Amino acid sequence: MKKYKIAEENSDYFVAETQTEYLASRELAKEEKKSTLGFNGLTPSEWALLSKNVVVEDDLLNPVWNDLSSPRNKYQLEHGAVYPIKLCERLIKMYSKEGDAIFDPFLGIGTTMIAAHQLSRHCVGTELNPKFADIAGKWLADVQGLFANDLHYKIVNDDCRNLLKHVHKDKIQVTVTSPPYADFIQKSLKDRETTHKTSVIKIENNSTVKQYSQEENDFGNLPYPAFLEQIKHILKDNLEVTKAGGYSCWVVKDYRDTKNKVPYVPFHSDLARAGEEVGWKYHDLIIWDQTGQRRLVLLGYPSVLYTNQNCSFIVVFRKVK
Ligand SMILES: C[S@@+](CC[C@H](N)C(=O)[O-])C[C@H]1O[C@@H](n2cnc3c(N)ncnc32)[C@H](O)[C@@H]1O
Repeated sequence: MKKYKIAEENSDYFVAETQTEYLASRELAKEEKKSTLGFNGLTPSEWALLSKNVVVEDDLLNPVWNDLSSPRNKYQLEHGAVYPIKLCERLIKMYSKEGDAIFDPFLGIGTTMIAAHQLSRHCVGTELNPKFADIAGKWLADVQGLFANDLHYKIVNDDCRNLLKHVHKDKIQVTVTSPPYADFIQKSLKDRETTHKTSVIKIENNSTVKQYSQEENDFGNLPYPAFLEQIKHILKDNLEVTKAGGYSCWVVKDYRDTKNKVPYVPFHSDLARAGEEVGWKYHDLIIWDQTGQRRLVLLGYPSVLYTNQNCSFIVVFRKVK
């Protein structure tokens, strides 16, 4: 086991136990003896493993995160911005138990549904683009062909603003989702066409970013202020369909709009505020470290100097009774 050196004020360096060793030797042993499982069916050690708030993709000690970078399958390749199944599985395991209902308002090609299926949870999702909804159906059928279960899966090809038509109130235990980031994708595509034609961003990151659709209802075509307003409506309806004590997890990135002289757009904070304004409790913030997936690029050098934003945030809300 690795040991870490920790600096203490007015003292020499000393060698501390790793977090895992500390937990294993003290709190876990105590909790394990009580042997009552959490509402999610996890033992104290299972929960401790899942509960780190910074998740590093190539952390081999962490069994649920070490294959996030596996090659994309034929369904995933059809979409420009999917998240890994393991990410969904982790969140679903953390905040629900078998037989619970999971929801994704921005279903895409159905990653959340596949994860829910693997973990024997029901799932419903809305997706605006018929092409992606169709792929979600095919992927699900593929997976069900191998391991069918008798739970319910519903893919709705509709605007998520109609979610109350498709999902009953107080039924969902966990929402796991990743919305489009307003019209930032379009801006970054334009940017790549002009400024970064031959840059490392385009060539070596082999970016597959695409606009989701030309549809007016597509959240990926809305300017940021209008987008935030609409996200707030979704969060409000999302709260209604969630059970008391249930959770809602939003995988998002922050952004820069340097063309308009906005150095930093703190989407994760704006999202958290919008959630609180409609009645969610801001429950947790998890950082998904993606340094392994992205090459460093020079940003703003030598005049302004920006850092590389190599992480996503998972904003976790809870419906408090
Ligand atoms: C970041 S992607 C989600 C990808 C998904 N997590 C996956 O792994 O497949 C966002 C999705 O939201 C969809 N979308 C955009 N506006 C929507 C709306 N008004 N209602 C429902 N879906 C919408 C887009 O078509 C896109 O597939």
